[in-house]
Amino acid sequence: MKIALLAGDGIGPEIVAQAERILLHFRREGLKIELEPGLLGGCAVDATGEPFPDTTRKLAVEADAILLGAVGGVQYDNLPREKRPEQGLLAIRKELNLFANLRPVVLYPELANASTLKQEVVAGLDILIVRELTGDIYFGKPRGIEFREGQKVGFNTMIYSESEIRRIAHVAFQAAGRRNGRLCSVDKMNVLECTQLWRDVVTETAQFYPDVTLSHMLVDNAAMQLVRNPGQFDVMVTGNMFGDILSDEASMLTGSIGMLPSASLDDKNKGLYEPIHGSAPDIAGKGVANPLATILSAAMMLRYSFNEESIASQIEHAVQKTLEQGYRTADIYETGTKKVGTLEMGDCVLENLQSR
Ligand code: IPM
Ligand code: MG
Repeated sequence: MKIALLAGDGIGPEIVAQAERILLHFRREGLKIELEPGLLGGCAVDATGEPFPDTTRKLAVEADAILLGAVGGVQYDNLPREKRPEQGLLAIRKELNLFANLRPVVLYPELANASTLKQEVVAGLDILIVRELTGDIYFGKPRGIEFREGQKVGFNTMIYSESEIRRIAHVAFQAAGRRNGRLCSVDKMNVLECTQLWRDVVTETAQFYPDVTLSHMLVDNAAMQLVRNPGQFDVMVTGNMFGDILSDEASMLTGSIGMLPSASLDDKNKGLYEPIHGSAPDIAGKGVANPLATILSAAMMLRYSFNEESIASQIEHAVQKTLEQGYRTADIYETGTKKVGTLEMGDCVLENLQSR
């Protein structure tokens, strides 16, 4: 099994290095994997002039899975849009057809204090956000900025086909079936036709999943309910843009965006795995970034792309144990715990894996 390692920008290389150590540990134990580095984002722009160069495209197409750090940096903000690091990320998602973005939002009891919400509101939080990732206003055409009647206008197109909605709905229903059997679909059907179709197709798909209870919620209400009573949600499914916004909101319920992994899958379980946090240029190169979201992303990779459930849960347990032992990077540090850097956090997880 071939894994492409795209460390990216900012803290990306530091955190991916820790996940790589974990993968190499399992390779020594007999897991048959090959790791191959590649460039995506700003580092690729620096080296080749393109955020998603052909060599990376080839590597990504050949690989069975991709582990990504993070892309982006202020030094790229003034580049033309098509040369920006984010464009590399959008292009790899689109070209590899990674339409199903799974963003688990889990509160570790040890980190309950990190949330800005009251503990009783977030206690036991465990939500899966299923975000459609290759359609919607992100990719819809026409789009642009142009002159009309003497002034500039900016425009984008929110568009979904039935088949795009249906395939993400299936992913979400199946995920809900494996969890607590509740699916909440989020739309804005009171205003937007595109999302009326979304609601219709999701409703239609429900007939194949009699064991899952489907509900619908308008996106503004969903944003409110997430902070009012997040415990009501099991699986949420929504389009690309609403999912972008709601998943950032939901991640903050845990108070520790540095802990949350994600998977972006195609229809054959090929996937791109990445922490949901960004490249954090302000702390890059200082050895203080939290590698746990990337390590947990590697666990998701082993589970979803390689069917190695046992290894995936070994990694998750090792992370859990590390937190129980009181080790914290700066982003999740509180008085009374032990502050460690990126490398030491990797050491702790490795030790917990080896001491099993
Ligand atoms: C995300 C990010 C990306 C998105 C950006 C970097 C293009 O915010 O993965 O949520 O909007 O999808
Ligand atoms: Mg986002």
